[in-house]
Amino acid sequence: MKKLNIDIERFRKSAIQAIKEIKDATALESLRIRFLGRQGGELTEILRSLKNLALEEKRRIGPVANSLRGEIEKALEQKLESLKVQSSKLKVVVDLTMPGKRIETGHLHPLTLVEKEIREIFKAMNFSVVEGPEVETEYYNFDALNVPKDHPAREMHDTFWLKQFGKTRGGRLLLRTHTSPIQIHYMETHQPPFQIVGPGRAFRYEATDASHETNFHQIEALMVGKDVTLANFKFVIQEFFKRLFKKKVQIRLRPSYFPFVEPGLEVDIQCVKCDGKGCNICKESGWLEVMGAGMVHPKVFEAVRYNPKEWRGFAFGLGPERIAMIKYNIPDIRLFYSGDLRFIKQF
Ligand code: DAH
Repeated sequence: MKKLNIDIERFRKSAIQAIKEIKDATALESLRIRFLGRQGGELTEILRSLKNLALEEKRRIGPVANSLRGEIEKALEQKLESLKVQSSKLKVVVDLTMPGKRIETGHLHPLTLVEKEIREIFKAMNFSVVEGPEVETEYYNFDALNVPKDHPAREMHDTFWLKQFGKTRGGRLLLRTHTSPIQIHYMETHQPPFQIVGPGRAFRYEATDASHETNFHQIEALMVGKDVTLANFKFVIQEFFKRLFKKKVQIRLRPSYFPFVEPGLEVDIQCVKCDGKGCNICKESGWLEVMGAGMVHPKVFEAVRYNPKEWRGFAFGLGPERIAMIKYNIPDIRLFYSGDLRFIKQF
């Protein structure tokens, strides 16, 4: 006859410990099956193997094993009870009928919204969206755009010059004063025909007021092809304003000067609030100035090694702050960067 080769006492300790550690009813049930399951339960097997033991062994171990079964059953039962009590206590703490705390979700800044809307409109008109660096060289910000060396825009009061560590090929470093250098970067690396928009930040060293900030945004646009004319320009911006303000918008072109275009234009739209009648937004003039534009200057094409006899194009630059101010009736550009939640939350 065999001897039982299992240490009942050790089994008892580990079983009680295992029951103690259980955290929920499902796991407890698995444990019950593991110990007491009819088929292959660990304790069931032990009890079953008793019949093969020698008589004295049977007498010695039988009662111990049987009382162990009782003990485990009781421990399981008690554990189940305590789990029930715990979960009913939990129900008292978590009152599902209590009204929830309102979670404030973040949302997009009005400028982000407007810029996104503008991008989407141009994308739908088959323009690609490209970007350029905020730190520029004099070459990209001025020279390549045909801004003469003695142009007033180069003077200290307009440009944030950066402390120079060594020389760059493009001259001194600066924070770009407009997004027009994006045109140069793009043309240096692409061949026409194409149409792009380039949104981004621009920086100017000047006093701030209700319509000027030292840091603001622009969206540059450039379309180059064999037979691009001002008529294409007119169509594109008319369509753009129609989609942006969701109505037909009258435009007005005035001659102006920008070194990188010829002819250069200033674009006004009829005031979208009063339809030209005169209101506080258009300062009673009926018109709103919205962008600078023109036909790309041959000197600019030369700078990027395009043949000015072969290619022509239009370019324009508009300010999303200005557009947002018109669209949402915002009286002061400084509100955008004020960090005032009372302002931001309205969008
Ligand atoms: N870069 C000009 C500015 O800051 C705006 C501008 C005017 C952009 C005419 C253009 C343009 O592309 O053709 O103020």
